[in-house]
Amino acid sequence: MHDLLIRNASLPNGRKGIDIAIKDGKIADVAPGVPGEASKCLDLDGWLVTPPFVNPHFHLDATLSTGRPRVNQSGTLLEGIEIWGELSPTLTVDDIYERARELCHWSIARGCLAIRSHVDITDNALLAVEALLSLRDDMAPWIDLQLVAFPQYGYFRHANSRENVFRALDRGIDVVGGIPHFERTMDEGGESVAALCRIAADRGLLVDMHCDETDDPNSRHVERLAAEAHRLGLHGRVAGSHLTSMHSMDNYYVSKLLPLIVEAGVAAVANPLINIAIQGRHDTYPKRRGLTRVKEMVEAGIPVALGHDCVMDPWYSLGSHDMLEVVNMAVHVGHMTGVSEMEAMFAGVTTVAAEVMHLEGYGLEPGCNADLVVLQARSPVEAIRLRANRLYVLRRGKVIAESAPQVVSLALGDERKTVDFIPAGSQ
Ligand code: FE2
Repeated sequence: MHDLLIRNASLPNGRKGIDIAIKDGKIADVAPGVPGEASKCLDLDGWLVTPPFVNPHFHLDATLSTGRPRVNQSGTLLEGIEIWGELSPTLTVDDIYERARELCHWSIARGCLAIRSHVDITDNALLAVEALLSLRDDMAPWIDLQLVAFPQYGYFRHANSRENVFRALDRGIDVVGGIPHFERTMDEGGESVAALCRIAADRGLLVDMHCDETDDPNSRHVERLAAEAHRLGLHGRVAGSHLTSMHSMDNYYVSKLLPLIVEAGVAAVANPLINIAIQGRHDTYPKRRGLTRVKEMVEAGIPVALGHDCVMDPWYSLGSHDMLEVVNMAVHVGHMTGVSEMEAMFAGVTTVAAEVMHLEGYGLEPGCNADLVVLQARSPVEAIRLRANRLYVLRRGKVIAESAPQVVSLALGDERKTVDFIPAGSQ
């Protein structure tokens, strides 16, 4: 006797008419016509079932603070950092906790059940660390939060950072972060990469750095990140977030760089909504898009995940934590509109993002956690096109979010019909 039987699902790999049996919070079987009874059954009529969305790059401490104390008028990264500097001294543990908790609720409603959040560790009180460690534990039944010790004003550039990275990690922060392009000099940026990778190697932790989030083609800290990952044996354990300078680098240098990233097993996390909004702000025309070389990295075999980065904070006043909006932007900005390219981008907010975060029990195979999202779409491409409605979100086999199918009723003279933006007979 199964706890739940999902009938007639489509899967992201193109399989149709699939049943999924769930027992004790795990996937027990995935096949056409799974036999047996269940206490509950969901007939999906061909809707797409995917493992949950994963956001591998976010800032829970800053989210839902737009306008405090002012809106970013220039739209630049640097004004955003200035505003965060004005907001930070006014923050309390409760304020950070409540805003982040609200964002987690939005995330669950959108079918995103894992978030890697960078956490500013530069205040000596470590307020954000305290708030988000509590939230990580409190929300664990429903969503996985992974926290990164982020020396937001530079590891060397800010006096508190070096000690506070250790204090934050000692208190249970999961991942080592950094921001080499914000250090005072290129040399200090490189040294910060080396020092932070060494800390991760010594403690057996993962690394995820904001790296080269700039339009400056000479910002090449990703080269040092790959070199240190390789030297310290951190293959498969390091991610470079943003990497926007690669957009502006010359092709010859990139032809040397990509094999170094492959050799080091370094993953990339692009943030298309934020990159297209923030990069190129000093340009006249043509204005650079700023997104890193997603297409070329995917072709080279580098794991490329996509993050949301911000929702309503000093850097970006838009967003609702919809990872399909992130993918939709990525396929446009990255010229990734081929079918296999769109599927790779869908993987960038599901399986590849889970791989970057080293999530355990993630996937659609028997034995995986029964964490699933049912979309009102029949393929990943349709899901991206529609930014599809989440009909059901399941955690450990239980429905934790549910939404009615979205249809619009038309009354055109005597004609009555409904529209769901899916062509008739497109199954
Ligand atoms: Fe970020």
